[in-house]
Amino acid sequence: MAGTASRSLGCAVAAALDQQLAPGEVQWFPDGELRPTVGDVRGDDVFVVQSTGPPVNENIVELLLLLDACRRAGAQRITAVVPYFGYARQDRRSNPGDAIGARVVADALVSAGADRLVVVDPHCAQLEAMCSVPVETLTAVPVIAGALRPLAGETCVVVAPDLGAVKLAERYAKHLCAPVAVVRKTRVSGEAVRASELVGDVRSRQAVIIDDMISTGATIEAAQGVLAAGGALPDVVVAATHGVLVEGAAQRISALGVKRLVVTDTLSVSGGGLLQVCTVAPLLAEAIGRLREDRSPDELPTAELPG
Ligand code: R5P
Repeated sequence: MAGTASRSLGCAVAAALDQQLAPGEVQWFPDGELRPTVGDVRGDDVFVVQSTGPPVNENIVELLLLLDACRRAGAQRITAVVPYFGYARQDRRSNPGDAIGARVVADALVSAGADRLVVVDPHCAQLEAMCSVPVETLTAVPVIAGALRPLAGETCVVVAPDLGAVKLAERYAKHLCAPVAVVRKTRVSGEAVRASELVGDVRSRQAVIIDDMISTGATIEAAQGVLAAGGALPDVVVAATHGVLVEGAAQRISALGVKRLVVTDTLSVSGGGLLQVCTVAPLLAEAIGRLREDRSPDELPTAELPG
């Protein structure tokens, strides 16, 4: 079953499993309320695919209602497959008075009926610890690295655009047999960041900037400024699992002279010729296939552990 945010990904996953998406529809009321309805799922092992990207709150509510509808319809087990998990950046209290949004959303999914979660490259590694039900964490790094290989030259350097992306950069670097450089970033606001130092040698090298997600493009823009000042070659490639790409982000990145922007289809994206979209449908299908046979989670294509 797929929510409206992930219909085409859900169809591709179902097709890879030789299945069709379960029927279901969503009604929108004039006041903005949603009413999703599901078919007969009594006794079924249900997988509900719904990324919670923009409009984030609407997509979360739709997912919650779908989970509740499945539970009330008598599903035997319900797995929320949330390829992009919104609010994952709110994984701790940065300031007194903050909420921990990731925890609130995780709790809400469980209380609505999720017996298990499947996520892809979540922003916070501790999502599993925040959840009271099992969380299967998959990674799109090998898929994206496959797309990067023909784009990345022999002299490439994998760049983490902030300290939080270092482990991820190391994983890409392993796939691309390349060194790692790190940019130090400070977030000024939701749309603005400041990049200061660069650690690592980028002079006369092609930079492959990687991140888990790109929202406004501010992080990439700031990193590119520091890389250019550090003497990196201009044919930069950018890659991230989740192309949140709010309005204007793709143009912002394009204006940097970036050669290619590689993302996956955890979210529906549009961004013109610059974009290359890799599919995670086979990865999700494999995970679902194994889970429904109750095969050990250890056999799943899980996120490579840092370290
Ligand atoms: C933050 O730590 C994330 O990993 C991304 O770097 C960030 O969310 C990207 O957002 P934006 O594109 O708005 O800079």
